Amino acid sequence: MKRATNHLISTALLVALFLPAAFAQSGEEGPRTIWDGVYSQTQAERGRNAYLATCARCHGDDLAGFRGAMDGERFMEGWSEDTVHSLFHRIQTTMPPGQAGSISDQSYVDIVAFFLSRNKFPTGDADLPVTGLENIRIQEKTGPMPVPSFAMVQVIGCLTEESPDSFKMITSTEAARVRDPSESTGEALEAAKAAPLGKATYDLLRNVIYLDPQNLIGHKVEAKGFLIRSDAGDRINVSTLQSLSESCGK
Ligand code: HEC
Repeated sequence: MKRATNHLISTALLVALFLPAAFAQSGEEGPRTIWDGVYSQTQAERGRNAYLATCARCHGDDLAGFRGAMDGERFMEGWSEDTVHSLFHRIQTTMPPGQAGSISDQSYVDIVAFFLSRNKFPTGDADLPVTGLENIRIQEKTGPMPVPSFAMVQVIGCLTEESPDSFKMITSTEAARVRDPSESTGEALEAAKAAPLGKATYDLLRNVIYLDPQNLIGHKVEAKGFLIRSDAGDRINVSTLQSLSESCGK
């Protein structure tokens, strides 16, 4: 049922945003994910050369450097339930440190293709393009999953005080991965205000008391921070908190 809904939504997105390329490349409708052969073998080889020239001196020839951030499980922990665009954007705007943007966008996207090939995601006939990466999702082969522990997330729910200095988000949306811990503004803020509440509950870690949650009790609130999953309940180590509405209706 859920898959069917996702399928419909993604199909609508494809029709709106991505029609010619998507159908030309995949020959079928449906969501595009890293399992759909979104890069080519030759592109991954180009990416490997660019990586060896620009990145390997710090990350090692085999990507083992910096906790193997791009390999295997670490790759999924870091990037599942996000888009290929977020990954491309992160690398393009931060790597190499102090020289971000020093190689072409084409080279950055080729390097992303190399990372995908290293993780054994299937190849296809066409290259990963520089634009439109927002429409390619990173997820497990079996489909979307809850965001993993330690991810930076956004939740929207009602702020309550359970006992003195112990705060919770109730009737909350499921945690969604975000890259920017700062308070939403502009369109993202309007979307947060309009978001329907959900059924999740999150404990807010004690550090939240420095953010003055007292004034927000009973409000519809946006919280962003690191998600910590545990059997005792999911918690959020809150970075920012903002009121979306003074009341938190159903
Ligand atoms: C001068 C050394 C150096 C070079 C060159 C370099 N990096 Fe990094 N890279 C780092 C360091 C240090 C970190 C860890 C940064 C951190 O954790 O904040 C890192 C982290 C990363 C991460 C993990 C980011 C994350 O948030 O998970 C990726 C991906 C990455 N680098 C890709 C690249 C790519 C691609 C290139 C080549 C275009 C490159 N790096 C070149 C030093 C380097």
